Amino acid sequence: MDKFLIQGGQKLEGEVRISGAKNAALPLLAATILADSPIRISNMPNLRDVNTLVKLIAGLGVAIEYAGDTVTADTSTLNNQFAPYDLVKTMRASILVLGPLVARYGEAKVSLPGGCAIGSRPVDQHLKALEALGAHIEVENGYVHAKVDGRLKGGEVIFDVVTVGGTENILMAAALADGVTTIRNAAREPEITDLANMLIKMGAKIEGLDTDTLVVTGVESLHGCDYAVVADRIETGSYLAAAAITGGRVRTTHTDPALLECVLDKFEEMGAEVTRGDDWIELDMQGKRPKAVSFRTLPHPDFPTDMQAQIMAVNAIGRGFATISETIFENRFMHVPELSRMGANIQVEGNDAVVTGVEKLSAAPVMATDLRASFSLVLAALAAEGETLIDRIYHIDRGYEHIEAKLQGIGAKIKRVSG
Ligand code: EPZ
Repeated sequence: MDKFLIQGGQKLEGEVRISGAKNAALPLLAATILADSPIRISNMPNLRDVNTLVKLIAGLGVAIEYAGDTVTADTSTLNNQFAPYDLVKTMRASILVLGPLVARYGEAKVSLPGGCAIGSRPVDQHLKALEALGAHIEVENGYVHAKVDGRLKGGEVIFDVVTVGGTENILMAAALADGVTTIRNAAREPEITDLANMLIKMGAKIEGLDTDTLVVTGVESLHGCDYAVVADRIETGSYLAAAAITGGRVRTTHTDPALLECVLDKFEEMGAEVTRGDDWIELDMQGKRPKAVSFRTLPHPDFPTDMQAQIMAVNAIGRGFATISETIFENRFMHVPELSRMGANIQVEGNDAVVTGVEKLSAAPVMATDLRASFSLVLAALAAEGETLIDRIYHIDRGYEHIEAKLQGIGAKIKRVSG
């Protein structure tokens, strides 16, 4: 099992090229099922999760190629609508093929995704929304079996909770439904807008982008197109956090400040100098120790839960103390015991954490537990004195493309050791 060996203490300086967003790439891949002619998606990040979904779509009989940073898919040979447990269990977002398969082929059998380290991750809202459009849903033996005679019918969908995946699933399904669908309490993450933009390029009719109410006028068919994945706002924030925690200066390129304004505001609250370009962002910590910052994770455009662990790591060496509330997932503080092993002072009470900054963290053997927690341990190791060994880094390979090369490019002493 691979590990990272990180020698901490360097101020990180330089430039990082940001990849396409994992959390946009996955729904965009699922949407290829809707196209009745070949579709090409570029700026695709080469990640384990992306490769898993490509494999699952190939298993449906789709001719799908992943070469360089581009995926091309031709669904004319699709011959089954079955997404097996052995693939879905390794990548929960596979549930996103459910909506497109039912909408286009009238039937789908998709394994229920399991929970994961950060929470139970139910999909009840996905199923409720599809039923509102006329799908008949049965759940048995760990599989969702969805069917509809003829086409789905446009209707009213009201989510009980703001759900990114649920919004994406029903948006894709509604695009081919017969009639108009209104999706209320929709998630507004930039990855949903990216999906909507590609669907519109494929011929879909969608209004209300970036708002919590999406109105979709279904069409008979959707055609292929050329599309590029939006920049990864979480990867961007993660590398800017590397500059903040080491007192350095990092410029992230091929990104977009508008995708993560709430996070950039927090960096400025820490005392960092943040400069925004059209497609780049530079954070200069000027050798200073950041001020600890409080926040609550909330749906976009508020503070993203996927940046919580990373900013907690920066707070761990911050000046003063800060409170962090995790309101999205029920178990997303698993990085806390690991950061504590490195000397962090963090008190957890339910979904609230109080972080009291310490001058220095110290190297220690630690273990990654989930994707974003892994990056928070990398950040802590970059700031800690000594050599930190991080185990189970397969988690990090799910969402950070070429992470060693990108970190080495800004001066980090990091290497992957196996065994
Ligand atoms: C997406 O997960 C992201 N993953 C997550 O990123 C991200 O943390 C999350 O959105 C929130 O922003 C992808 O896009 C692939 P949700 P998703 O449905 O869609 C509850 C990362 O690190 N809920 O918005 O699964 C759920 O339990 C990953 O890149 C229901 O109750 O998240 C959670 O508490 C981690 N019923 C809340 O809603 C449902 O049917 C938000 O979940 C669906 C969700």
